[in-house]
Amino acid sequence: MEEVIQALQVLEQDMVKEVEDGLTSSESAMKLCRQAGAEGSVLLENNEFFPIKDEPVAVFGRCQWDTFYVGYGSGGDIRAPYRLSIAEGFIQNGLDMDMELCNYYKEWSAHNRPDEGSWGNWPMYYEEAPISDEQIANASKKAKKAIMIIGRAAGEDRESLPEEGSWYLTKAEIDIIHRLKANFDKVGVILNIGSIMDMSFYEELKLDGMLCVWQGGQETGNAVYDVVSGKINPCGKLSDTVARIEDYPSNPYFGDRDANAYAEDIYVGYRYFETFARDKVVYPFGYGLSYTTFSMETVEASSNKLCVKVKNNGDVSGKEVVQVYGKAPNGLLGKPARQLIGFEKTKVLEPGEAVIVEIQIDLQDLASYDDSGVTGHKNAWVMEKGCYRIFVGRNARNCEAVLTVDYDEDVIVKQCQENSAPVVEFKRMVNRDKQIVFEDVPTRTVDKRERILAGLKEDIEPTEDKGYTFDDLMDGKVTMEEFIAQLTIDELEALSRGSLEGMDSALAVKGNAGVFGGVEESLRQKKIPVICTDDGPSGVRLQAHTTLFPNGVALACTFDKELIQSLSAEQGFEVVDRGSMVLLAPGMNIHRHPLCGRNFEYFSEDPFLTGKIAASYIKGIQKFGASSTVKHFACNNQETHRHMNDSILSQRALREIYLKGFEICLREAKPDCVMTSYNKINGEWAYNNYELVTGILRDEWGFEGLIMTDWWIVRSACEYFKDVRDQAYRVRSGVNVFMPGSDRVGPYAGLVDGSIAEAVASEEGITLAELQLCAKYVLALGMKHMRRLHDKEN
Ligand code: BGC
Repeated sequence: MEEVIQALQVLEQDMVKEVEDGLTSSESAMKLCRQAGAEGSVLLENNEFFPIKDEPVAVFGRCQWDTFYVGYGSGGDIRAPYRLSIAEGFIQNGLDMDMELCNYYKEWSAHNRPDEGSWGNWPMYYEEAPISDEQIANASKKAKKAIMIIGRAAGEDRESLPEEGSWYLTKAEIDIIHRLKANFDKVGVILNIGSIMDMSFYEELKLDGMLCVWQGGQETGNAVYDVVSGKINPCGKLSDTVARIEDYPSNPYFGDRDANAYAEDIYVGYRYFETFARDKVVYPFGYGLSYTTFSMETVEASSNKLCVKVKNNGDVSGKEVVQVYGKAPNGLLGKPARQLIGFEKTKVLEPGEAVIVEIQIDLQDLASYDDSGVTGHKNAWVMEKGCYRIFVGRNARNCEAVLTVDYDEDVIVKQCQENSAPVVEFKRMVNRDKQIVFEDVPTRTVDKRERILAGLKEDIEPTEDKGYTFDDLMDGKVTMEEFIAQLTIDELEALSRGSLEGMDSALAVKGNAGVFGGVEESLRQKKIPVICTDDGPSGVRLQAHTTLFPNGVALACTFDKELIQSLSAEQGFEVVDRGSMVLLAPGMNIHRHPLCGRNFEYFSEDPFLTGKIAASYIKGIQKFGASSTVKHFACNNQETHRHMNDSILSQRALREIYLKGFEICLREAKPDCVMTSYNKINGEWAYNNYELVTGILRDEWGFEGLIMTDWWIVRSACEYFKDVRDQAYRVRSGVNVFMPGSDRVGPYAGLVDGSIAEAVASEEGITLAELQLCAKYVLALGMKHMRRLHDKEN
């Protein structure tokens, strides 16, 4: 604890006080944002175009001023102390750019402010500024190189579109690029985008350089300057495979309003492309160029550790990422040709310098989930017998086999139970001798009702109000059971939800996302603390000024676990410093399809990378005592009709792709909270899904933190327990807290709906124990935060 307090003090001294509320980013937060923005940038093409130094350059495109810093919605809406545009970054750092042109864009942008729209109707791009042939010709007299900046954004509640201005370039952008080509020696593009877009235009337009800088938060301008000028050597790697939209395997099964059957199964992203469609890849997963060249030599390889010698063979310093992939024998289940099982980034290597990078691997990461029983081990993680091959290299395509390990027999890695199996029949993609075949997906066999009844626990015998306070609990004068025993049904109900006033509760710091804990007077009389929540992935979303960090994709593309942890520690510090407690981040759903509107917040198409980056992020957030909430558990893979949509998928895909990242980060970083998603999973909403929440998260993974809903739930009656509906249904599944606390609209807006009291009183309802369990997790989290505050005060 002392270490934490000392670190807090150091950070406090570090705070730069500039904006009106006196709250701005610390020097270290700004520095790390700049570094992560730069080191997450991915250099995709470079025909002697970048870096640009000691030579003039003409920069086109309004996004040099109207830069996209982050996406929209709860993951973007941060009150940053400043936002440094790309143009400002270039000017401030002295890039030799054509200022006549730059000032034209500045002026034009000032007079043509984009319409920022409203919730769910935000612009996906900004109409390009007109630029005349004369202006282009004039600029080409002063510089040989031209950069065109392309900007895109997306957000919550809506998808990106397979249209111009979203996935594709607009006609205006293409027209400008054509005219630049006709006038300049070399033309490059900078992509200021939230997550991947079409990149096949690069070849068609015959460009000379392409740098993807994502949305770098408030330091975007500095970060882009650093990479463009060569001050930082690009070392970001793609966290997604780039292909044409129609070539993604999920494309035919994405975006339906009601339900989408995940027929591509485990063949998401590079697992599909590297197995079945290598020629359809525009840029492979893990790809990214540098201004130098590195050699890689595996000097030691065993089944749990690899040592790889990386040498910088070029003239400039830089970092490289060593990536390790595995290939399991195809066996009876069918396997993808590559699966990421390890990665490490080097330190900065000077020209000629070499380093040995050690990477721990676990071959069990190559196990498959047998949901059909074809291997003889139904509902188990199995390593089928045969030859396991390990590859080391630079990306999912460019890697070499360094080790083979043979298993004579199947290995049962873990026996599980059937959980959340599909109820509707559909066919899924399977690899049979490298050919795609579609086979029936095994459907549900267990009875939900029996399962839940079998798992019920004993009630804590209620007592009268003994006058115990939360302080007594903290001081160890009473046990958790004794404290809970004296709570009434109404008090227990109140502990299992947020405040009835909803978001921005008056009980906590302004701009909060909602509170839970001491949300009623009788609870506060018992000194139960009010626990404050705030969004989100790219910064602390409160009324106060807080740092706007690079977006999730940029963070994942750094492939740098240490950097992410240092960066998110800054964010975690701000959570506490601004008076909040529970951060609603990271968002870590899988990029199943490139058009999902929230991909910018999430990390990757790959569960291993997602899990590892999330783990680092959580460790940083929780370093100073804030809580991290991993979300959205699970399968929030599209935004269309997100409250009603049903993600229909096999248990295998659920386990290997959509839950694996959560499993990794829960094990490694122990986040305090999990947030369920809005969507249904195989016919049942995530927050009502006992098998997902209690079956997997609690019972199988042993998660000991608090589980909350996403903001508001859809009212629904349980089909298999007569008197269980709405909030009682949610409690029965094992979700502890309904956020933000009452319905947004309708007859129960601002009120308790009565479903819990009714269900506890009924034979066919819920037990007191289930409700008491909710209180236990809320109180335990409250104790953590109160301890921290007490420690800080003393
Ligand atoms: C989002 C969550 C967010 C919550 C609170 C919801 O709309 O899906 O990610 O944390 O709002 O703002």
